[in-house]
Amino acid sequence: MKTSAFNSHQTANYKVIVYFICLVGALGGLLFGLDQGFIANALGSIKSVYELGTEGAEKYSAILAAGGVIGALLSGFFARFLGRKKSLVFAGCIFAFGSIVSAFLPSFIILRACRFLLGFGVGVASFITPLYLSETAPAAIRGAMGSLFQLMITIGIFLIALTNVYIAHVFVNPHIALPLMFLVIAFFAILMLLGSLILPESPRWLMLKGRKEQAVRVLKRIFNTQTEVDLEVNEIQKVLEESKGHTFKAVMHKHFFKILIIGVVLQMFQQLVGINVMIYYSPTIFGYAGMTGLIAMMAVPTVNMLFTFPAIYLVEKWGRKKLLYVGAVIMLITMVAAGLAFHAIGQGGVLASVSQLPKTVLLVAVIVYIFGFAFSWGPVAWIVCSEIFPLKGREIGMTITTMVNWTFAGLVMRYALSFMETFGRSSLFYLFAAFCILSIIFVAFFVPETRGITLEDLEEKLKR
Ligand code: BGC
Repeated sequence: MKTSAFNSHQTANYKVIVYFICLVGALGGLLFGLDQGFIANALGSIKSVYELGTEGAEKYSAILAAGGVIGALLSGFFARFLGRKKSLVFAGCIFAFGSIVSAFLPSFIILRACRFLLGFGVGVASFITPLYLSETAPAAIRGAMGSLFQLMITIGIFLIALTNVYIAHVFVNPHIALPLMFLVIAFFAILMLLGSLILPESPRWLMLKGRKEQAVRVLKRIFNTQTEVDLEVNEIQKVLEESKGHTFKAVMHKHFFKILIIGVVLQMFQQLVGINVMIYYSPTIFGYAGMTGLIAMMAVPTVNMLFTFPAIYLVEKWGRKKLLYVGAVIMLITMVAAGLAFHAIGQGGVLASVSQLPKTVLLVAVIVYIFGFAFSWGPVAWIVCSEIFPLKGREIGMTITTMVNWTFAGLVMRYALSFMETFGRSSLFYLFAAFCILSIIFVAFFVPETRGITLEDLEEKLKR
């Protein structure tokens, strides 16, 4: 009896530590979301404080993606040379600096430079966080921890939508409202900074650097028994020995290129199904159909956040591929429905004459679409990219795939609205539907199932 009570106590203890590690790590995801979601409900205040037209506002919004690409590009070097933990600390510093300086309402050039910096921080965090979580969490809960990262992104998007709407409502003067909006980001940035200072380093990185003793110490905090620790050490060591030699050699391998293409295309599709059009522009799109107000502002971030919760459970129960299929089918159907709704609504004109049915179809389609993305492609694209690369090529692989994600996010955000104006509003939704079909074909033929196996076993499997 005594022994089993002791064991269950150990298990509970173990879990708290693991979840704490993951929670602090995932604060990187929260900052990602805060910056991603910031624009939607802050743009009005920014435009009036800085007297911007549409183009200036777009320039300000879009520079985040540029920072994201550069951040992702350099984060592989940070991850390798600074380590995962110090890179998270570094990202925390950037977030804090960029948001605090912005809160002083500096000149527009400096404000844009700060948004670039925030994008840079997001690029670093969106690379390091899943990497850290996938290397530190035990195999059985790895997927769930990866989903936690996505959950934090969506909580960030929701939180900033909510606080920005609230702040703009309470403080009518944008010179007061805008600094407060930035300070919300600064608050969480400081939290992340402090949290990541006390995180342990990733055991896999420590082993890669030949610091076995330290790695064992970290693993002892994560696992319950010495046997589990030994097993994990052996597995990491085995893979390290097998992949001895230069990273260059590892990545010049044919098998690495195949995996790289899988990751790149997966991240490309995550953006080409159109998610960020909804995240950034859903109030605008609902506005085209004559819908404004709180539902137009809050429906997307709320549904996006709520339906990321089931993903945490489903990603281990159903596996990655099934979620990708189901999500893509839901997005396909809803994008076609949204396209048809816009056929009925038309390209502008007298909105008062638009009947209620197409408006309702549009609203429901967008909400169900967000649901479809939130429990599948949102988390799974990031999880799979953090799992498929061999240890030696993991930083390079994830750097490239993260950059691809940001590049396509930037392209979609930059051209979506003008595409709608040029080719008709329905056309954009049909285009996204077509990408959903392509993504299903791609998953069926190329994406491996990565559920429940250790990173090292997966590496063996992929090599074969
Ligand atoms: C995507 C982001 C998107 C977010 C929405 C993430 O997985 O990479 O581009 O804004 O999901 O929740």
